[in-house]
Amino acid sequence: MANLNINIGKLQLKNPVMTASGTFGYGTEFSDFFDISRIGGIFVKGTTLRDRQGNPYPRMVETPSGMLNAVGLQNKGIDYFINHIYPTVKNIDTNIIVNVSGSTIKEYVETAEKLNSLEKIPAIELNISCPNVKEGGMAFGTNCLSAAQVVKVVRRVYKNELIVKLSPNVTDISEIALAVEAEGADSVSLINTLLGMAIDSEKRTPILSTITGGLSGPAVKPIALRMVWEVAQAVKIPVIGMGGIMNAADAIEFMLAGASAIQIGTANFIDPTVSIKVLDGINDYLDRHGYKSVTEIIGALEI
Ligand SMILES: Cc1cc2nc3c(=O)[nH]c(=O)nc-3n(C[C@H](O)[C@H](O)[C@H](O)COP(=O)(O)O)c2cc1C
Repeated sequence: MANLNINIGKLQLKNPVMTASGTFGYGTEFSDFFDISRIGGIFVKGTTLRDRQGNPYPRMVETPSGMLNAVGLQNKGIDYFINHIYPTVKNIDTNIIVNVSGSTIKEYVETAEKLNSLEKIPAIELNISCPNVKEGGMAFGTNCLSAAQVVKVVRRVYKNELIVKLSPNVTDISEIALAVEAEGADSVSLINTLLGMAIDSEKRTPILSTITGGLSGPAVKPIALRMVWEVAQAVKIPVIGMGGIMNAADAIEFMLAGASAIQIGTANFIDPTVSIKVLDGINDYLDRHGYKSVTEIIGALEI
């Protein structure tokens, strides 16, 4: 059996398989299905400074090979997480990483600062796909300046591993990756959802209450793979890949393209045990190809 250990900066993973924010709750919801401590990490749902109701229904719609969602970061806020969720997840023997979201730079900073005190949270994932309410609602992650600004101030206050999650709704994702690397991101994760839309032709109305929403699932995989490959070549920091991973072959493709680890999102809704199947499949692939360590396949794409 090959060695599956991976380091993402100072973050030590027992294997490269993790679950994506917003698709795996706080992890404990899945513990009836499998031993969740077997995976390398769990990215908990988007957490904001104050509680959020999320968007009105309908806020999810199935699409060919994917889904659109406009959940809108429904969560009870960081204080609730610290007081009620953290005590229930802190003893899970894997990396619990909090996805930090916000509407203003101040909100990101205050949320990240509060997480410093939690001994069992080794990292945060900064979700910069949120709209910047003070700048007309454009997502922070869609231009280099605002992406750099938010990372710069969070980096000043947050002392553990800082993973910055990139938005794919940009012209050149490598430029954004370079901008956040320059401001002190320890690693980048990508991709978040792609902006999409669904229409009910009979009613002549949009299906989602928010009109547009985020596309995920197998439909986005080729785009995600291309972006991971581009970013991995541009930056020196580790890259965590995601977007449409449904099985071990998909996960391996992301690692060959340069991802040091992967996250599984939408596939959890179809099969709650998918991450264990992906893990077993990676193991099998490494044995079949005679690799001693999973690190050997990172960026091993031959062109
Ligand atoms: C229902 C749902 C909720 C999500 N919530 C978040 C979130 O709170 N924060 C975040 O950064 N990404 C969120 N995402 C994006 C996923 O973490 C992931 O980046 C994206 O879905 C692509 O991966 P996938 O195709 O494997 O699902 C959400 C995705 C879905 C489908």
